[in-house]
Amino acid sequence: MVEIGYSKKVLDHFMNPRNVGTIEDADGYGKVGNPVCGDLMEMFIRVKDGIITDIKFKTFGCGSAIATSSMVTEMVKGMSIEEAMKVTRNDVADELDGLPPQKMHCSNLAADALHEAIRDYRKKRDGK
Ligand code: FES
Repeated sequence: MVEIGYSKKVLDHFMNPRNVGTIEDADGYGKVGNPVCGDLMEMFIRVKDGIITDIKFKTFGCGSAIATSSMVTEMVKGMSIEEAMKVTRNDVADELDGLPPQKMHCSNLAADALHEAIRDYRKKRDGK
């Protein structure tokens, strides 16, 4: 059997994911699929005065996708959308004390869905 080592933080966020759910009439919505495994991620944001005041996610993804999304929602709540746009896949993995190399692709979903939601918010705000 192949040994895959998960950090305590990954296991904690997987077992007790934060901010799971949806936001009615969200200010921004992002949905992305992972081309590697076919898993899906949806992210909903509420924005007030340029700050992410609430964020929720729903995923049809693996444990690492759940843990990274849970972590990213905690990281960006209270951040400005500009700062949140700069959060990378690696930042999320670092914050979780790393992911096994075979699971790094799973962290793409969380960061990409967040960025999609911010783009959607900007589009709606600018009326485009
Ligand atoms: Fe699909 Fe992890 S295996 S997101």
